[in-house]
Amino acid sequence: MNNVILIEGPITATEFIEFRKLMGGPDIDMPAALKSVSNALLTVCLREDGRLLGFARVVGDGVLYFYVSDVVIHPSLRSGGYGALLMNSVLGYLKGSAVPGATIVVVPLAGLESFYERFGFKRCPDGHFGIGMHLPLPDSHDSG
Ligand SMILES: CC(C)(COP(=O)(O)OP(=O)(O)OC[C@H]1O[C@@H](n2cnc3c(N)ncnc32)[C@H](O)[C@@H]1OP(=O)(O)O)[C@@H](O)C(=O)NCCC(=O)NCCS
Repeated sequence: MNNVILIEGPITATEFIEFRKLMGGPDIDMPAALKSVSNALLTVCLREDGRLLGFARVVGDGVLYFYVSDVVIHPSLRSGGYGALLMNSVLGYLKGSAVPGATIVVVPLAGLESFYERFGFKRCPDGHFGIGMHLPLPDSHDSG
């Protein structure tokens, strides 16, 4: 048995940095992590005895544009329904905040599309939206 609980509330910058490493994402420094965690519209996390075991975030303007980011479960807890628990909490927030006509997006890592389809997300292009795009930036600085 475990005591994993779902909490709505921020994660710390240190936790964010650690989990990004876990996901294989590029390193970020503390000021970037602080700004990112404090600017999220929504953070829902899973904790056991205070220890962070997963989280999901939504960023955007809170009414018309929403981007679901960083849905991540610690490897020790995967395939136990916790990703779905986080996503259902995210959907509840979106239903309560987005106005009709709002744009809600996620950019899944390759292969993760079907995970998001389970929660109602549609693949692009779909007749209205074209194929999704992103802007890669050159490495503007190193960690020092
Ligand atoms: C993707 C992730 C969040 C799923 O979390 P999880 O707790 O393992 O998922 P759940 O146990 O809640 O699974 C919910 C449903 O999604 C399905 N699912 C889980 N991982 C999936 C995947 N990688 N691809 C497609 N479907 C997946 C499950 O089969 C389950 O379906 P069911 O309801 O029919 O049984 C987790 O694997 C993870 O943290 N991955 C690494 C980080 C990452 O890549 N995040 C996404 C960035 S875009």
